[in-house]
Amino acid sequence: MTIEFDAAVFTSPGAPLTIEKVSLPSTPPPGDVLVRLEATGLCHSDLHVLVGEWEVPSPMILGHEGSGIVESVGDGVTTLAVGDHVVLSWTPSCRRCRYCITGRPVLCDMVSRHSANHLSFDGRSRITRGDGGDVLSFAGLGTFGQYAMVPESAAIPIRADAPFETSALIGCAVTTGVGAAVNTARVRPSDIVLVIGCGGVGLNAIQGARLVGARRIIAADISDEKLEQARVFGATDVINSAGANLADSIARLTDGRGVDVAIEAIGLPQTIEAAYGVLARGGTAVVAGQVADGMKISIDPFVMSDQELSLIGSNYGSSNPAADFPLLVEHYLHDRLDLDSLVTRVIDLADINAGFEEMKRGIGIRSVIRY
Ligand SMILES: NC(=O)c1ccc[n+]([C@@H]2O[C@H](COP(=O)([O-])OP(=O)(O)OC[C@H]3O[C@@H](n4cnc5c(N)ncnc54)[C@H](O)[C@@H]3O)[C@@H](O)[C@H]2O)c1
Ligand SMILES: [Zn+2]
Ligand SMILES: [Zn+2]
Repeated sequence: MTIEFDAAVFTSPGAPLTIEKVSLPSTPPPGDVLVRLEATGLCHSDLHVLVGEWEVPSPMILGHEGSGIVESVGDGVTTLAVGDHVVLSWTPSCRRCRYCITGRPVLCDMVSRHSANHLSFDGRSRITRGDGGDVLSFAGLGTFGQYAMVPESAAIPIRADAPFETSALIGCAVTTGVGAAVNTARVRPSDIVLVIGCGGVGLNAIQGARLVGARRIIAADISDEKLEQARVFGATDVINSAGANLADSIARLTDGRGVDVAIEAIGLPQTIEAAYGVLARGGTAVVAGQVADGMKISIDPFVMSDQELSLIGSNYGSSNPAADFPLLVEHYLHDRLDLDSLVTRVIDLADINAGFEEMKRGIGIRSVIRY
């Protein structure tokens, strides 16, 4: 028995996604669960693929920020039951490798071997096209189709009273941004925090810094609309860096000291260097944005040692999805995180290419597909 459904398939860089019929088996193999997606957000990481900044094999169903309902479970699945509401994680965990057992599941061996190559944990794909050929699923999820067959640990159960549109965003932007501030940078109440880039990830870094009580949160972007949003999410100061020298603005705002934490949430070498360049002594720059393939940065290592600066990468907000997704849902339901304002448009799968066009032009925060 197979399930047939519509999915947005990536075939080549620069070409629009094509909506086509694909299928997968209705019975999950051992260890897998079949999830019926309810909602999925459009993330800039999908756009990196679409425009060819990241080279990936094709055909592939993109999308990695999704929520849904467990439709069926394979043999050996113990943590999920049919009907559970879940948020999908693009870093499932094998629960056995040295990263998983030491509390860093986003670095799991199986993820780097398989999910990062857009495959299931057995190194295969689950979905086929009309012509019978295999279709890959982005990060092993492929949420731009209504069904996904994923390892048990990729479907994180959450409270059933959380709305799907906002929960979907916990699958990427919220966890990545909040986690970059809370887990990677370990922002403290005494810190002055800078966030460069106020899209889906950056606005969540801002509200992550607010959640832990940072004394000042400075937001930088080239769009006044995004900077207005930044204030809604907790920025105390905003800088339009299109018309200003960022380093001068930060010097002015901090009496020449610089910031304790700078989070880059765009994915450009020049803004990563800028984040590092405005640190106060002892400060930490977090690279959450992801650059196009092959880009490099340049920093001064003497200053790094002399001033004890840190430059640190952040993958999925250094999170532990199994623990953090339900926690982020709680913060949302108790009004400590604003996920409602992140959803600027609810669209149909058929409108996905228009959604990415808007992202390219910097319009809105997140478009969310509701199935
Ligand atoms: N580290 C991770 O685990 C992880 C997870 C998800 C996404 N990402 C990456 O994070 C980045 C941001 O994703 P997003 O979905 O928030 O993107 P987005 O398109 O929603 O937001 C990008 C923001 O950057 C701003 N911007 C663009 N150029 C700028 C410049 N030169 N100076 C200042 N601001 C500028 C835009 O106006 C926009 O507000 C992407 O590179 C994405 O791939 C990383
Ligand atoms: Zn993403
Ligand atoms: Zn592991």
